[in-house]
Amino acid sequence: MAKTYGFGLLGAGLVAPFHAESVKGSDGGRLVAVCDMSRERADGLAAKYGVKAYYSLDEMLKDPAIDIVNVLTPNHLHYDAVMKCAAARKHVVTEKPPAMSLRETDEMVAACAKADLKFACTVQCRVRKAIQAMKRALAEGRFGKLLHADTYMKWFRTAEYYHSDPWRSSRQSGAGVTVQHAFHYIDLLQYLAGPVKAVEAKMTNLAHPSVKLEDTLLAFITYASGAQGVVQASTALWPGTDIRVELNGTDGTAIMMGERMVTWKFREEKPEDEQIRQYGSASQGTAATGPAAFGHADHQMVIQDMIQAIRENREVIIPVSSVRPTLELVLAMYQSAARSRRVELPVKDDSSIWEM
Ligand SMILES: NC(=O)c1ccc[n+]([C@@H]2O[C@H](COP(=O)([O-])OP(=O)(O)OC[C@H]3O[C@@H](n4cnc5c(N)ncnc54)[C@H](O)[C@@H]3O)[C@@H](O)[C@H]2O)c1
Repeated sequence: MAKTYGFGLLGAGLVAPFHAESVKGSDGGRLVAVCDMSRERADGLAAKYGVKAYYSLDEMLKDPAIDIVNVLTPNHLHYDAVMKCAAARKHVVTEKPPAMSLRETDEMVAACAKADLKFACTVQCRVRKAIQAMKRALAEGRFGKLLHADTYMKWFRTAEYYHSDPWRSSRQSGAGVTVQHAFHYIDLLQYLAGPVKAVEAKMTNLAHPSVKLEDTLLAFITYASGAQGVVQASTALWPGTDIRVELNGTDGTAIMMGERMVTWKFREEKPEDEQIRQYGSASQGTAATGPAAFGHADHQMVIQDMIQAIRENREVIIPVSSVRPTLELVLAMYQSAARSRRVELPVKDDSSIWEM
């Protein structure tokens, strides 16, 4: 019988049930424990899934039944947790953004590599069928010369959301629409159309005066290929509508809305195109209207892949190293907005960004 792999969740907050359900629904994974410094949260989620509760990561890491730790703590706490997991020789699935700086990201990647551990990041939108179809079409040259790669995230979050936990309104903790919410869609642009050569960004707070954060990002991207792109991302726009990712080339256009492929048109039609136009479902939430208004299917694919990658001793589909350029682009956006100027990549210093 194939070995099963034990998962321990660090953090029992908003995103934890998505990971718990993903492990529960996986082939070869089993949830062993949940850890949160809030006893109430740890006990609540552990009871729901009939698993052990821990209140400190150090204690959970001693559990030999745990092979993989899912790091689901606030953004600024990922680094310390991942470094501890690597030292304890546990594979890691970390939530996005992987860390707060490139230095931290490089150290985490190196620590996991040195210990021969898998290290994945849940920028799970990459696994959507529509995104994978776009990726294949780009590789096949079906767009011709790529001219535009854009994303639009017109979401809404209440003032209460920003005050539901102190970290959600603290830039030093990794809050702000750019690094927190839009990270996924900036990642998709980088994944599909990167690398990026330069960025100009403007950040404003349109509708959340009680927090000192940007709730709106406007950015103009120049890709190394010569293509251009825009990012419009906001949590100010009630009631919130589905995100869009748009690619336009000399020979084709593709548009994903939410997870649906709403436009898929090429000068040269292929037999599979009609099926690709059916990808996605209008009823599947993609977090436009609220922080938990989405399904766990994408997370489940990342979790399942982690199990397969360990079994087959191969790289995971979304290694953290592949998300580093996204973090770099996000950091460049903050620098550009703070200094009101275009920023070229690679960024020179990334340590002081959260002090701006
Ligand atoms: N991939 C996605 O679609 C998605 C969606 C939501 C959140 N996230 C990410 O998931 C992470 C968590 O977000 P959330 O919304 O669940 O936050 P949250 O505040 O709801 O939950 C975080 C939990 O971590 C716990 N915690 C903090 N420090 C701890 C420590 N040292 N030891 C043990 N527990 C500790 C807190 O008590 C809290 O319960 C963030 O990185 C966020 O960006 C990703």
